[in-house]
Amino acid sequence: MYRVKCVKVDALLSGEISCADFESKLLHNPGSPAIVNVNIGTTVKGAIDDLDGIIATLQKCGFAGRFYIHCDGALAGLMMPFIKQAPKVTFQKPIGSVSVSGNKFIGCPVPCGVAITRREHVNVLSTDIEYLSSRDATIMGSRNGHAPIFLWYTLNNKGYRGIRKEVQKCLRNAHYLVHHLREVGVSAFLNPLSNTVVFERPRDEAFVYKWQLACEENIAHVVVMPSVTIEKMTSFVKDLASNRADWYQDGSVLVPCIAKDIGRENCLCGLHNNKMSTKNGGVRISIEAP
Ligand SMILES: Cc1ncc(COP(=O)(O)O)c(C=O)c1O
Repeated sequence: MYRVKCVKVDALLSGEISCADFESKLLHNPGSPAIVNVNIGTTVKGAIDDLDGIIATLQKCGFAGRFYIHCDGALAGLMMPFIKQAPKVTFQKPIGSVSVSGNKFIGCPVPCGVAITRREHVNVLSTDIEYLSSRDATIMGSRNGHAPIFLWYTLNNKGYRGIRKEVQKCLRNAHYLVHHLREVGVSAFLNPLSNTVVFERPRDEAFVYKWQLACEENIAHVVVMPSVTIEKMTSFVKDLASNRADWYQDGSVLVPCIAKDIGRENCLCGLHNNKMSTKNGGVRISIEAP
C-alpha cells in the first residue's frame, strides 16, 4: 500500500526470523528507518519470532529511535498469553502495534480482527466524522458492527479459564498428531508452543483436497484448532498411512525428503530414517529435495 522498499529477511528452519540475516540486511540499509513485521506465529510453521532478539539487533545496528515494530499475532497472538513459557508481547517493549484475528482462535464467523497501537499513532490516523459525532481511524471509514459483538460474546462465554483450557487442549492435540504421524513413518515437525503441525506433502492432490490441507512446496500443515478432535486426527493419520502404502508400495516413487524444511532429525525419508519399514508405506531409498 505504501510502496516502501521491502527487504525479505531469511528464516531459520523453525520459520522464525534469522537475527543474523536481519543484522546483515540492516547494515546494508543504514540510511533508512526500519518497519519490521514480527510474526507471533507464522502462517506455515507457526513459528514465533524472537521479539527481544529483533529489538536487540535493531539497537546494535544503530537503529535505536528509527524503527517501528508490528507484531502480527493473527492466530497465536491469542494463545500466547495463556502459555507460561511464551515470549511476552507487551507495550512495555518498544513495539508500535499488535494485531490478532477474531476469525481464527476465537472463531468469529466473519473476518475481523483487533489492532492495538499507541494513542499517538491513532491520533495521526483519526478524523472527526461530524455526522457520526465520533472519530474514525479505519482506512475505509467503515467497519463491521457485528464483529465486536461476536468477539465480546465468545470472550465472555468462554472466559479466561475457558480459553486457557482450549489453548492447552490444542497444544496437547498437536503433540498427539505429530507423534502419531511419526509413528506411521510420516516426517513431521512441531514448533514448541505451536499448534501447527508440519509434515510431508501428501502425494495425491485428491487426498489434499479431501482433507483440505494447506500446502507449500514439499510440506503441508494442519492447524490443530479446538474443533480438531482425537477421533478426527486418528482417522486422518490412518487414511494417510493407508494411502502412503499405495503411493510408495513398489518403490518406483520415493518418499519425499523434507529435511531442508523441517531438519534432518525430523525427516523420515529413506535417507534420513534408518528404522523406516515398508509396512508403513515407507521405502528405504530417497533423494534429497533440491
Ligand atoms: C501470520 C498471519 N498473519 C495474518 C493473517 C491474516 O489474518 P486474517 O484472516 O485475520 O486476515 C494470517 C492468516 O492466515 C496469518 O497466518
